[in-house]
Amino acid sequence: STYKVAYFVGSLSSTSVNRTLSRALVRLAPDDLELTEIPIGTLRLYTPDLDDDYPPEARALKDTLAASDAVLFVTPEYNRSIPGALKNAIDWASRPHGQNSFDHMPAAVIGASPGMIGTALAQQSLRGVLSYCNARQMTSPEAYIQFDPDVYTDSGEVTDEDTATFLREFMQEFRDHVQRVLAVLPRD
Ligand code: FNR
Repeated sequence: STYKVAYFVGSLSSTSVNRTLSRALVRLAPDDLELTEIPIGTLRLYTPDLDDDYPPEARALKDTLAASDAVLFVTPEYNRSIPGALKNAIDWASRPHGQNSFDHMPAAVIGASPGMIGTALAQQSLRGVLSYCNARQMTSPEAYIQFDPDVYTDSGEVTDEDTATFLREFMQEFRDHVQRVLAVLPRD
């Protein structure tokens, strides 16, 4: 069987290194993971005023999550936390009250930065949010990617063998994590 994985790229930049990383992860993922991006750039800012009347983009986000087995976050670090656009998408997904899309959902986080900390602080911040949202996070391995532009093509080919192996193993571990969580917590 295959597992449907929805993924978020936390950056709206047209030259995002995290988008490049996401392309590499899609390429290197095991064959039984089917990855679909959930766009976040067209979402308006979340407000509870719309809880009874979600806009189409937010409805689509929740529908995709409902149809998915797991969720992957590929995010930059902004000011030692996650970008507002990603937090906004998570806020939409977590609501209306009682309809939190992340409840018991297998999840993983990864991110890339030109800096040496490799989004570690953003990931720690994201993990706190996902804990509250009751997602079932893969906690190991962690992946703090210091982005080296020489190692990736724009289409996500990874030219360095050690990097490719690391990313391939990360996705294999995620697949195993998804399998383990779903064995205990099937998603209808
Ligand atoms: C950054 N950047 C950054 N980098 C980092 O390692 N830690 C940080 O806290 C921040 N903070 C930050 C804030 C804002 C507003 C911007 C625009 C940038 C640099 C960041 O890692 C770099 O721009 C990456 O290229 C962003 O990822 P994407 O958009 O290329 O995927």
